[in-house]
Amino acid sequence: TINDVKIIDIPKVHDERGFLAVIEKDAIPFAIKRVYYLYDVPSDSFRGGHAHKEQESVIIALSGSFEVLIDDGKTKRRIMLNKPNQGLYIPTDIWREIDNFSSGSVCLVLASTEYDEVEYIRDYDDFKNQLLG
Ligand code: TYD
Repeated sequence: TINDVKIIDIPKVHDERGFLAVIEKDAIPFAIKRVYYLYDVPSDSFRGGHAHKEQESVIIALSGSFEVLIDDGKTKRRIMLNKPNQGLYIPTDIWREIDNFSSGSVCLVLASTEYDEVEYIRDYDDFKNQLLG
């Protein structure tokens, strides 16, 4: 459920040369199988619009900011991501939409699965129906 969505603080090292953030070991709650990222996203773009049967994800605003709407079929929340050392953990069966991309923003996604269209739920009614069944 939406209560399992959480912000993960990514450990960082800071010195006069800047910040270095590290994702290793148990920093995220699954083994990473795939990394992808969105960039050059027009500010009026709307991404996501799906849930996953298998995939768990961590979404990071590597640069700039955007908003993530999460929805477990009962409760919706909007979360702004704008810190490169914070990840939003999203378990399976959560509908997500991403919008309000700032200019130059980069949305990094760490995924627990390889890409497989079969495990996507891209229709909101299907998502709601699946939760009932
Ligand atoms: P889409 O799921 O619409 O992106 P988003 O959720 O960010 O809005 O994916 C866009 C296209 O990219 C779609 O044709 C599927 C393809 N794709 C891959 O081939 N591999 C991947 O790992 C991902 C995430 C998408």
